[in-house]
Formats: sequence, structure tokens, C-alpha cells
Amino acid sequence: MKKWSATGNPTGRIAYVNGRYLPHAQAGVHIEDRALQLGDGIYEVTNVIDGQPIDEEPHLDRMERSLRELGMDMPMGRAALKLVMREMIARNRIANGLLYLQVTRGAARRDHVPPKNPPRPTLILTMRAQDMAALAVRMEKGIAVSTQPDVRWGRCDIKTVQLLPNLLAKQAAKQAGAFEAWLVDDDGYVTEGGSTNAWIVDGEGHVITRDLSSAILPGVTRKIMLDAMAAAQVKVVERKFTVTEALGAREAFISSATGAAVPVVTIDGKPIGDGRPGPVTRRIRDLYAEKAGIK
Ligand code: PDD
Repeated sequence: MKKWSATGNPTGRIAYVNGRYLPHAQAGVHIEDRALQLGDGIYEVTNVIDGQPIDEEPHLDRMERSLRELGMDMPMGRAALKLVMREMIARNRIANGLLYLQVTRGAARRDHVPPKNPPRPTLILTMRAQDMAALAVRMEKGIAVSTQPDVRWGRCDIKTVQLLPNLLAKQAAKQAGAFEAWLVDDDGYVTEGGSTNAWIVDGEGHVITRDLSSAILPGVTRKIMLDAMAAAQVKVVERKFTVTEALGAREAFISSATGAAVPVVTIDGKPIGDGRPGPVTRRIRDLYAEKAGIK
């Protein structure tokens, strides 16, 4: 018998904080945790399907890289961390959900300069069920995006918890009736979504997504999709594209651990292609699912 259910643990959600599994409502960190004081921390989100973390290794690779960029090590060995992830899935009894991992530099007297003797890093894991019905509707009907200026910093390749520009852009997008914000740089090029990578399909069926740089997050879903497309000989170009080009595209979509290849059907209220999810997006979703081992 499986240890999880569709709705999760009937006695409530469980969080993990520095070695302890606690009821979600009682879990907390110190008020001088550097993530709280200074945004000095990084995170990862992995999808969990049928009780299994999806794209686990590349997520942990990126976590390690983000930490390295902050001059930090992984808070525990990878095998141990994978056990904590599995324990979280089991204790929360969530079959289909999202596992959130956060590492901060720990609690120390507030000072911008990281302490010479680093405190014990804070490791937090939380989990929640994914609304599969809502996701299915987004896949089926597609989503609206709203363009917003990209006012973020110069190291968007680090998955830091400092998300104010992202959340303000997503809030503005929501107010405009859209599900996601597409962030646009000073030259009119789309960088990425507020919490997703951005893709278009041109008139010849070529798939286009922005090339990796410090301007975007190296999405794990993006990477697995690119690998899957290369294997299937789908023509892909990694380059930047403007909002004008996106408006003239045949299809558009977003990618993230929270929903692979979700079709974009309007940008700022204007339809993309025939205004409905298209076949290339669907194919990429299927290729991704196969590559990621999702049935
Ligand atoms: N967001 N770009 C940004 C800015 C993101 O925050 C994310 C992920 C992505 C997609 O990356 P991936 O394919 O590895 O999920 C791109 C997560 C889901 C979040 O913040 O909740």
C-alpha cells in the first residue's frame, strides 16, 4: 500500500527545519536568520509525481551551484538530502505536489558582510499538494501572459530567495488578468517569466528560447526539454526574442517544475497564432514527460 494519498496527510502538513520534522504551523527559523534579514539564501522547487521527485539530480546540481555562487557548501551530503526529501513525501503523504527546499546562511548578528565564522546554515523543506485539476485546465486552455519591465539584478542565474521584482511583476500581471508575467529587458527582449522560462515557436516550427546568461535562471525543465528535443531532432534555437516577435509567433509556452510546457495563448491580450494551444507545445510536453520519466 502506498504511504501517500491525493489529498495529503490528514493530520496536517509536515515541514523539515535543520534536522527536525515539525507540524507546518509550528516550524520556524530564528528572527536573525540571514534570509529574513538580508535575503541571504537560495531555494529549489521540485515537482513530485506519484511520490517521486522529478528531475532530482539537476535540481540538486543547481542548488549546489547557487550555494557555490554565495560561497557556501551544500548543508548535507546529497544522499542524506535525498533521504530527507523522501521522508518529507512520505510524512506529508502527498502523491502529486511540490517540494520546496531552501538553504540560508543561517542566523547571525545582522551585518551585510557574511560572518568570518559562518553560522550553521538553515535548511528548510516544505511540501504542498499540487492542484492537478487547475493545472489540467491551464494545459488544456492555455494561459495569458502580461509583459512587465525586467527590473531585476545582474545575477538572475542564481536561484536566490530575493524575489521582490518577480513578485511585483507577477502581481501586476495578475491585476492585468494574466497568469504569468513575461519580463522584458531595456531593449525589448523577453528574458523569462516571473517564475518560468519563456519559449516561442516560429512560422517554420523552430522552437526558440533565450540563451543562458546571467539574465535568466537556467531552468531545469528548460534543460530537460532541450535534451529531449535534441534527441527527437526538433529544431531549437537558443537566442533572445522580442515581444514583437513573440506576438507574431505560431505558438508560445512557459516551462517550470510547477508545470512543464504550459501553452501561452495571449500576450497583453493579443492572441498568439490561432489563440489556442498548439501541437508543438503538446509534443514538447510529451517529449519532456518521457525524458523526465513521467507517465
Ligand atoms: N520557479 N525562471 C524563474 C525566474 C523561475 O523562478 C523558475 C522556477 C524558472 C523555471 O525553472 P525550473 O524549470 O527549474 O523550475 C525560470 C520556481 C518553480 C518557483 O519559484 O516557484
